[in-house]
Amino acid sequence: MDLNTIERNDPDSVAQNAAVASAPAKKVFVKTYGCQMNVYDSQRMTDALAADGYTATDAIAEADLVLLNTCHIREKAAEKVYSELGRIRDMKAERAAVGRKMLIGVAGCVAQAEGAEIIRRSPAVDLVIGPQTYHRLPDVLARVRGGEKIVETEYAIEDKFEHLPKPKRAEMIKRGVTAFLTVQEGCDKFCTFCVVPYTRGSEVSRPVAQIVAEAERLADAGVREVTLLGQNVNAWHGKGEDGMEWGLGRLLFRLAEIPGLARLRYTTSHPRDMDDELIAAHRDLPALMPYLHLPVQSGSDRILKAMNRRHTAKDYLALLERIRAARGDIALSGDFIVGFPGETDADFEATMDLVGQVNYASAFSFKYSPRPGTPGADMPDHVPEAVKDERLQRLQALLLKQQQDFGLGLVGSTIDTLIEKPGRQAGQKVGRSPWLQPVIVDEKAGEIGDIIRVRITKTGYNSLFAELA
Ligand code: SAH
Ligand code: SF4
Ligand code: F3S
Repeated sequence: MDLNTIERNDPDSVAQNAAVASAPAKKVFVKTYGCQMNVYDSQRMTDALAADGYTATDAIAEADLVLLNTCHIREKAAEKVYSELGRIRDMKAERAAVGRKMLIGVAGCVAQAEGAEIIRRSPAVDLVIGPQTYHRLPDVLARVRGGEKIVETEYAIEDKFEHLPKPKRAEMIKRGVTAFLTVQEGCDKFCTFCVVPYTRGSEVSRPVAQIVAEAERLADAGVREVTLLGQNVNAWHGKGEDGMEWGLGRLLFRLAEIPGLARLRYTTSHPRDMDDELIAAHRDLPALMPYLHLPVQSGSDRILKAMNRRHTAKDYLALLERIRAARGDIALSGDFIVGFPGETDADFEATMDLVGQVNYASAFSFKYSPRPGTPGADMPDHVPEAVKDERLQRLQALLLKQQQDFGLGLVGSTIDTLIEKPGRQAGQKVGRSPWLQPVIVDEKAGEIGDIIRVRITKTGYNSLFAELA
């Protein structure tokens, strides 16, 4: 999962557009931080606001409403929000000077975790809204426009998804041929380093019918590849159309029947929830892409225990063996934390060792960041920053080498590629490999939405170059 900040609509690149701000319709500028679920949520909030008369803009200076969809996972992510709010406050003041209003909203995991504290620290903020109440956004905004400041972080009893407006078909088409679909939200695992159970609440699975209907609408709008999302996506379960209890594996089989949907993925999974049916789906379902993000965090049993991951390194390796036996060409991706409290050199070497054994096609690794309210923050023996830095560097060098070797290993082979969008350079299009690498092809190789056979000719830093096979 790409948890590096997703900064779309970067205000740095649009601030100079201030002079052209003169449109009459209400405009909203949304900036998204954090994980894919926030990307999905930002789209759903945009849909809810569209129903309320707002059009989306990429130009922050002309926005009547600026909405930051925030991430609380590490301290840096959370602090970024406050520096951003400082800049937006200045823009709000400039707009006020010419008699125009700008509302500022904070949504997402920082909103849920810090609530009213955000308005205390940044008084220019008009509303704070947690992820479980996005369907109430239009009502909340109506009150904010009436002059109230609102903090809405109570968990709603009604089903948010049931009440969120559906995107217009034209809007879905604009969003492209790949899409996210949240099927599960929240987490009951309580890893001792993690804020997610506090910011997203306890595990909730969306019902089968809702998911199937949403996937059908996406397919109808030309989407070819759907990534099912959940903080613990493989803990998803629900009553199926046959009245039986389904797990994620069964759901994937059902979604694969939808005409037009050629590719399925899911993220993020927990090793403890990889059941036989899901592994069987990797064996029997061609639409399920041979790529699995399965975070392990550490290779040391002592640290895994302190993290409350509730499995050992050996359990993880044995699980991978079963998955690889089911699907030989599956590529692994993972998340790692270095410098968890009490991590010794030997613990860290165990992580390096595990990485060496697994051979990841890609991975994300982070320095442990103590989060207020989590058990890890109060544990003894915090690791000095310099040690964390050094460990992270060594781990990332190894992971980068594995990623590059994985790409190099594909040169000369023939693979399927979903053409996604025009390339950055004229004459090119960019596709997506089964393992999520960007694949650069000649623009005449096919149309957006086509799945074509290509031969890999060489690798770039994080991409593949290919020609029609
Ligand atoms: N649900 C997913 C992970 C969600 S958070 C899972 O269980 O794997 C995404 C990643 O952020 C985690 O896998 C972890 O590697 C990292 N992360 C979470 N909390 C962190 C913290 N306090 N410090 C550093 N990294 C953290
Ligand atoms: Fe966080 Fe652990 Fe839940 Fe993942 S499984 S979201 S790391 S508490
Ligand atoms: Fe961040 Fe919340 Fe996602 S803390 S990683 S935005 S679930």
